[in-house]
Amino acid sequence: MKTLVLGASGATGKLLVEQLLSMGHEVKVIVRPTATIIDTWKNKKKISIIEANISEVSVEEMRDYLSDCQSVASCLGHNITMKGMFGKPRRLVADAVELACKAIEQNASDTPVKFVLMNTTGNRNRDLNESIAFGEKLLIGLIRLLVPPQVDNENAADFLRVNIGQKHKQIEWVAVRPDSLIDNDKVSEYELYASPIRSILFSPGKTSRINVANFMSRLIAEKDLWTKWKGQMPVIYNKEE
Ligand SMILES: NC(=O)c1ccc[n+]([C@@H]2O[C@H](COP(=O)([O-])OP(=O)(O)OC[C@H]3O[C@@H](n4cnc5c(N)ncnc54)[C@H](OP(=O)(O)O)[C@@H]3O)[C@@H](O)[C@H]2O)c1
Repeated sequence: MKTLVLGASGATGKLLVEQLLSMGHEVKVIVRPTATIIDTWKNKKKISIIEANISEVSVEEMRDYLSDCQSVASCLGHNITMKGMFGKPRRLVADAVELACKAIEQNASDTPVKFVLMNTTGNRNRDLNESIAFGEKLLIGLIRLLVPPQVDNENAADFLRVNIGQKHKQIEWVAVRPDSLIDNDKVSEYELYASPIRSILFSPGKTSRINVANFMSRLIAEKDLWTKWKGQMPVIYNKEE
């Protein structure tokens, strides 16, 4: 099993790569030439590193990168800097999702490719009736206006939900929605829900990045887990003690 990981140099992406490798999977990563990557990756047989800026990768190049991959995972996200939040590319995640999907369609494999997208509880699954309080709706509308990455995350998941949908022959997908991200050294117990069970703005839950990585890698590896969540946007919270 080989997975292409986008955003592999990020805080969650690194953990996802490590978890896939520890399962014995092969991994291909596309990282910016400026990215810091873990030294040991450079000597590992099971990982291939492509240095490229995802926003400049053509469909043809992506088609080649994906030609031997059975799954794609994206942990891409805008850097928390003025340039990352408000500069270009505004559609970093959405465009990368579209690019990978186009490339998968062109490769036209007989077996559907799995796409696991790291998304956010700040985004609703509009296939479900996810109601939120009026005040929260207002605030999210404001965030959408003022913080471009919010719209990018929404567009990325919407592309999978609406354009790829539930019956695509070559692509199956899951958009994983963590709540407030925290760092922990070890995987701990976590809970999964089809929709948020807490207010994302007024009583957010916590989700360890390592738990997100664990769930994403298990989705890729475990057939039953994939069948349970495919075409959905599961929310992941750390289990409260
Ligand atoms: N913060 C939260 O509480 C929260 C909650 C739920 C969901 N999320 C979502 O989860 C995402 C991932 O979180 P994280 O903490 O793992 O993110 P992160 O550490 O900031 O990683 C972001 C990844 O995206 C890459 N990237 C950023 N800008 C890029 C560009 N212009 N071109 C190419 N690659 C680019 C980074 O590459 P470089 O290493 O080269 O910069 C890195 O690999 C967030 O961005 C957000 O959308 C966040």
